[in-house]
Amino acid sequence: MKHPDLIQPSTWTKIKNLADAKETPFIVIDLDTIKQKYLELAAGFEYAHIYYAVKANPADEVISLLAELGSKFDIASTYELDKVLRHNVAADRCSYGNTIKKRNDIRYFYEKGVRLFATDSEADLRNIAENAPGSRVYIRILTEGAEGADWPLSRKFGCSPEMAVELAVLANDLGLEPYGISFHVGSQQREIDVWDGAIAKVKTVYDRLYNDHGIALKMINLGGGFPAQYNQKTNDFQTYVEEITRYLTEDFPDDIPEIIMEPGRSLVGDSGVMVSEVVLISRKSSSSLERWIYTDVGKFNGLIETLDESIKYRIYTERDGEEEDVILAGPTCDSMDIMYENHKYQMPLSLDIGDRLYWLSTGAYTSSYCSVEFNGFPPLKSYFV
Ligand SMILES: Cc1ncc(COP(=O)(O)O)c(C=O)c1O
Repeated sequence: MKHPDLIQPSTWTKIKNLADAKETPFIVIDLDTIKQKYLELAAGFEYAHIYYAVKANPADEVISLLAELGSKFDIASTYELDKVLRHNVAADRCSYGNTIKKRNDIRYFYEKGVRLFATDSEADLRNIAENAPGSRVYIRILTEGAEGADWPLSRKFGCSPEMAVELAVLANDLGLEPYGISFHVGSQQREIDVWDGAIAKVKTVYDRLYNDHGIALKMINLGGGFPAQYNQKTNDFQTYVEEITRYLTEDFPDDIPEIIMEPGRSLVGDSGVMVSEVVLISRKSSSSLERWIYTDVGKFNGLIETLDESIKYRIYTERDGEEEDVILAGPTCDSMDIMYENHKYQMPLSLDIGDRLYWLSTGAYTSSYCSVEFNGFPPLKSYFV
């Protein structure tokens, strides 16, 4: 059987057998791929605690698998917390990683037993002190280098290193434990040396807190940012491991602090194949050199990360032969529902209405991002193999 590059033939057969029996659109998640990715990450960064960023794919099957493998969980809301706890995960394996939270939600996490909280502002820190007394806090700093990330997470989160020092001192005064520093270099970060700059900033915060205030932090949270396999090339995983480990040992030569990481995309992205059908093919004039291909998936049912054409998925079709530029668009009556127009995808001229398109590495930030019933379309179904 013909199969896409970068997917093992046996994995493809498994996915195809399931997919062939279902009506589009849907996603197939290969749990073995997630398992392999987790084990690879745990072996590569053997000194780190892995907190899976649940937001990447909150399916019960995914949480259950990762819980069994020993993962911890980076949690964004009370809803995610409830979901993870239902899998018999102890609260001390969870952190509240969202810097934007209601007082009641902080209290809820505390009452459930969570004692590790992210923060990046004075108001949030005071709320934590009041509603989760005595807890450990880590302070998220801003990082540079968002350009190398296909899905940047800059500006909205984090504070300057100077403010991180002030917040750690305040945390101490408020009876919290200033535990560490976190950052996120941007999701699908293709430039590894951005971690170098971020770790160097962490080091200055560590030194200032220790030298000027006698506060010894214990932990660094490296965030997420590790890549899945999309159209644009990235370094291989081993290079990430070697480089990031080198930055840590250079900046903390005597003793590397406890290391936490919060992978989302890199753990689950490559496990997913979104299966769609070509609804319509048209040209806007008889002499037009490009075809419009409309599919039954779009920005509102799984492909929101094609906003600004940020994430460029690999798309596989069983058709072959001469290819031509296409514009790829979704099924709704919204003209913003166009996935790729500037970045030129090419597809075979033989592609026809009713043919299937397979969107590879769509295991992260797809199913959970679907609208509920925009234009009446239901959220995407997920199947698991
Ligand atoms: C706090 C936090 N940690 C981790 C992640 C996961 O990042 P990634 O999917 O790039 O691994 C995110 C993503 O939004 C995040 O907000």
